[in-house]
Amino acid sequence: MGRNWILVTGAAGFIGAALTEKLLKNGENVIGIDNLNSYYDLSLKYSRLKHIRDLSSKNNSGKFEFHEFSIEEKLLLEKSVINKNISTIVHLAAQAGVRYSIENPEIYFQSNLVAFGNILELARKIEVENFIFASSSSVYGGNKNIPFDEKQIVDFPVSLYAATKKSNEVLAHSYSHLYKIPTTGLRFFTVYGPFGRPDMAPMIFVKNILEQKSIKVFNNGEMLRDFTFIDDVVEGTFRCCYKPATIDKENNQNSLAPFRVFNIGNGKPIKLMRFIELIENKLNQNAKKEFLPIQKGDVVQTFANTNALKEWINYSPSTSIEEGVDKFINWYKEYYSIT
Ligand SMILES: NC(=O)c1ccc[n+]([C@@H]2O[C@H](COP(=O)([O-])OP(=O)(O)OC[C@H]3O[C@@H](n4cnc5c(N)ncnc54)[C@H](O)[C@@H]3O)[C@@H](O)[C@H]2O)c1
Repeated sequence: MGRNWILVTGAAGFIGAALTEKLLKNGENVIGIDNLNSYYDLSLKYSRLKHIRDLSSKNNSGKFEFHEFSIEEKLLLEKSVINKNISTIVHLAAQAGVRYSIENPEIYFQSNLVAFGNILELARKIEVENFIFASSSSVYGGNKNIPFDEKQIVDFPVSLYAATKKSNEVLAHSYSHLYKIPTTGLRFFTVYGPFGRPDMAPMIFVKNILEQKSIKVFNNGEMLRDFTFIDDVVEGTFRCCYKPATIDKENNQNSLAPFRVFNIGNGKPIKLMRFIELIENKLNQNAKKEFLPIQKGDVVQTFANTNALKEWINYSPSTSIEEGVDKFINWYKEYYSIT
């Protein structure tokens, strides 16, 4: 019998839920895992799950099975996949956020390292055909060479969050090498869009402007971010589900593992002040701006080179910031019933 389930961790999260929807629409059966932690407004996670369940009850959709637990719980993880033939694991569950990692290091060790080890062990035990995991643009730290490409050395993280993501890449490489697990690490660049994360700037800006509260503008606005629309991130990740990694003889003579790392970013960094202006224009309201110095752990700019991704899956993100902000704010107003 062919393998007929895809395991998505962090399935109630921003990217995990959107990817799960896409997979179900494509007829895939998905096992979703999420511990539904309260790092941000839980009602958003429940809404995403409701969307997924509604979708999975429709004809032509794949099946959806959800398990609520923390991936640190190794036995529960193993139990959740018993009697299931899993072809692919997409591991998106993690404690996200650069700034939060300064105040709350412990949760990053648990969710991003201990849990990651458990997922690697699972991938090994079930001999998964395709293992994909979320890394982050933050691994580039303060690299000065822009745009960031995957061949750059990323050994100098400036936050614990980034350090855990870089660690994930090296840990995954060792498993890929030892057990020949086709493994793809995806470095996402500041993802935004419908059902986005309330701890991230796009959501905070829109909320505060609408409530006429001030917004914090770090590094006095002198920042560039390669904002990437959620649909583009999902499309790139989705395509990788159908293309397990192979050995990269051409670009990496130091590795004999079926292992790849790709940037998924828009490749068009936007000045923070321009981003705020777009939101102001769309809301027809001016933001009260509180200019502040750069925060610990933050980087001044992110900018993805996506040539490798394009070559691999014939796709790179393309949604313009104008279109993305428009769609995002339309969703926000509808979701929060703002007239
Ligand atoms: N959104 C971005 O801009 C961005 C950028 C770079 C990397 N990433 C990475 O992409 C992945 C998905 O991010 P997101 O934006 O969807 O974040 P998210 O916080 O919305 O989703 C992560 C989900 O994982 C769950 N989770 C966390 N720890 C868990 C654990 N130990 N066990 C089980 N479930 C757990 C959370 O409840 C949450 O629903 C993460 O690995 C994140 O680090 C995101």
